[in-house]
Amino acid sequence: MEIVRTVAAMRAAVAGRRVGFVPTMGYLHEGHLSLVREARARADVVVVSIFVNPTQFGPNEDLARYPRDLERDVAMLSKEGVDLVFAPEANEIYPAGARTFVEVEGLSDRLEGASRPGHFRGVATVVTKLFEIVRPEVAVFGQKDAQQALVIRRMVRDLMIDVEVVVAPTKRDEDGVALSSRNVYLSADERRAAGAIPRALAAARRALAQGERDPERIVAAARAVLDAEPLLRLDYLALVDAETLDRLERARGEMLLAVAVFAGKTRLIDNEVLAS
Ligand code: PAJ
Repeated sequence: MEIVRTVAAMRAAVAGRRVGFVPTMGYLHEGHLSLVREARARADVVVVSIFVNPTQFGPNEDLARYPRDLERDVAMLSKEGVDLVFAPEANEIYPAGARTFVEVEGLSDRLEGASRPGHFRGVATVVTKLFEIVRPEVAVFGQKDAQQALVIRRMVRDLMIDVEVVVAPTKRDEDGVALSSRNVYLSADERRAAGAIPRALAAARRALAQGERDPERIVAAARAVLDAEPLLRLDYLALVDAETLDRLERARGEMLLAVAVFAGKTRLIDNEVLAS
């Protein structure tokens, strides 16, 4: 496995090859590795990028303390048979004077975008750059970041980027908590409290299964579980159309129940696709 640091070297390494690509910010876990396996199954060469992208963090967010351990990440990826790791410095991706950004309107200002202004502009911009550098046939993203996956799909369609976007299921711990690099921030008590997130999603799923079709009541079923956990503070909880992210008058079709909570200073997100 080769570790590549520059745009020029990356371009040279992938030229003429059928690439499966997994963009990440590192501090890898089983969720990331599941995406790597998806990529592996669909391409000849697997490229994983590890880049903590400054433009997708807000001024009061965790960019400086975002967990990093390139050595450990490289060991994990090497075991998975990854061919190339792209780990550039920030000035390689954003040379001084860069003035061009990618904005996906509408989808980007709901849910995560409302709580984190500019976040999806940063994501869309860096993913466009990475696609242009790595030139993948297939790129794999996680359902854990459902809105991100929608933004990327929309961007690929709108900009006519020649890549197949695959979205892989969310990997979870035994108590149902979604794996996340940010889980390392949690104290033992906060980690236990986070178990209320998947339980809240399950409560909503049950309400729907029992015939509830009022979105507010479905959301309330989930909120009750979160409210019962004093260590969690709700940021948002919403049942929306799974494609447009529009609010629903009534529960029907494919829906996304999306949640963001704070456990102490740590922000956690999760979601579940519901159908009726
Ligand atoms: P990061 O948070 O490192 O996630 C990289 C990829 O792993 C994303 O597609 C994310 O959805 C997926 N992922 C994270 N946790 C997962 C889980 N528990 N199960 C399955 N997949 C999971 O998302 C980003 O980085 C960045 O925004 C990025 C796309 C790299 C752009 O900077």
